[in-house]
Amino acid sequence: MNAEIGGDVHRAADMLRSGEVVAIPTETVYGLAANAFDPVAVLRVFKVKDRPAFDPLIVHVGDREQLAKVVKMWPDQAEALMDKFWPGPLTLVLPKRPEVSDLVTSGSDTVAVRMPAHPTTRELLKVTGFPLAAPSANPFGYVSPTTAEHVADQLGERIPYILDGGPCGIGVESTILAPLADGGWGLLRPGGVSLEALEPIIGRPTQRQDHGPQLLPGMLPSHYAPRKPVYMGDVEDLARRFHGRRTAVISFRSEHPAFRCEVLSPSGDLGEAAMHLFAVLRELDASPCEVILAEEFPEHGLGRAINDRLRRASAART
Ligand code: TXA
Ligand code: MG
Repeated sequence: MNAEIGGDVHRAADMLRSGEVVAIPTETVYGLAANAFDPVAVLRVFKVKDRPAFDPLIVHVGDREQLAKVVKMWPDQAEALMDKFWPGPLTLVLPKRPEVSDLVTSGSDTVAVRMPAHPTTRELLKVTGFPLAAPSANPFGYVSPTTAEHVADQLGERIPYILDGGPCGIGVESTILAPLADGGWGLLRPGGVSLEALEPIIGRPTQRQDHGPQLLPGMLPSHYAPRKPVYMGDVEDLARRFHGRRTAVISFRSEHPAFRCEVLSPSGDLGEAAMHLFAVLRELDASPCEVILAEEFPEHGLGRAINDRLRRASAART
């Protein structure tokens, strides 16, 4: 198989209807989609990604009607979050309906759901009429794809079609929230919606570290990792430590002396930096540099999601 790349929503919908796996654009990253109500197709998603069966998928819905087919009920605050951030990069973990296969949720009685904002995928969800179970369209453990070409590079031989929606505007995955027993919210993954934006509606969510270890792979310390070693910290110190090696620096706004330096946003815009992050990691991974050194980004807004991904990319080494 060699994936065709194209913009034909109806073709993608036909394939999904017949149980195929198709890559789809979202505003965060590209997803690897299957009909959420077709367990055989869902199983195929795990196979294509080499994803372990214990790592559940996010279900993407186009409207509240599709949501009600997936989720049993949701608290008032979830309703307020949906009103404010959907369609958009916010995923909520809610009680699932029995019709949703255990394969999608890895046996959990909750399901992660979001309504994506990308116009092509919104159109697709209208045409299919069924929700789409979709993890990010990368081999398990690798950096998420933010263009159709990224998907083709790694999974092109394993899927028939990549629905091209251009480069992803946000560039990091969705923020994942789960309601807690005490009425508060837990932050399972920082992402495209910032904590500052959530705060007026639900207050400060509890951070992952504060409520025990999380064993889900999307939350493993070493994830989103390129093949080259990544080190995070003060890039001047790191550059001294790796003196004589071909180092590539990822910096927020300013140039640093190195074999190669990638500045993610010269104007200091964290949104722009997030949008470029994964493409730069992939590019550096394919480049002749030996070691990737990444600066710590400001810990606010999308900076939190950027730091989280860089920390995980570097976790195996530091
Ligand atoms: O922006 C995104 O969220 C992208 C696009 C394609 O929508 N999707 C994405 O999916 O990042 P994925 O599979 O790479 O990461 C989703 C993570 C899983 O690793 C898992 O940790 C968590 O969501 N998750 C899914 N279902 C869950 C559940 N029932 N309970 C807790 N966590 C869950
Ligand atoms: Mg992923």
